[in-house]
Amino acid sequence: MADSVTKRRKAVEELADIAKSCTNCDLYKDATQTVFGIGPVTAELVLVGEQPGDEEDKQGEPFVGPAGKLLRSALDEAGIDPDEVYMTNAVKHFKWKPGAGWRRLHQKPNRYEIEACRPWLEGEFALLRPRLIVGLGATACQAMLGSSIRVLTDRGKTFDWGERQVLVTVHPSSILRSRDEASRQENRRAFVADLRDAVRIIAR
Ligand code: URA
Repeated sequence: MADSVTKRRKAVEELADIAKSCTNCDLYKDATQTVFGIGPVTAELVLVGEQPGDEEDKQGEPFVGPAGKLLRSALDEAGIDPDEVYMTNAVKHFKWKPGAGWRRLHQKPNRYEIEACRPWLEGEFALLRPRLIVGLGATACQAMLGSSIRVLTDRGKTFDWGERQVLVTVHPSSILRSRDEASRQENRRAFVADLRDAVRIIAR
């Protein structure tokens, strides 16, 4: 058992290493580096986001920027240790366009880029054995479950993805974009509630 965990851990590391030189689509050209998933291979919970942001692109780790901070504090509040979760993204390179000054503005990955990145996501899931996957936002959920998924209406529901189960919820950056403080608090509360549901599903 321990041996198989060691093997799987090593295989994820090898996959991450190969992904460093990915040229499956053009996004590698403007990104600093490939941002692969991070966390224990034994994680019961896997979180899938959209793509690395500006900070993740610089640091080389998923969910270390503003949305990641919100995500980690929401996980904490839901009773989930962020270090016990495997976090990854549907797309492993930061897609951006120049903004004012040195700002790099996030761009949504298109269908072709999501497809080009799919082998890495599939590769990760061939090695992980989560009890539950939480899809954060439309890009991640549609990458796993297909384009009929609508986060607004499907949020809080679980769907089968092959033999795996995916719980649909919002992306933490949507909470950061709330129109005022009252709605930010309400959106954050609903997000924590979804994460608490994830805990309940895993405990079943
Ligand atoms: N948003 C994501 O979807 N993933 C990250 O890693 C960071 C921000």
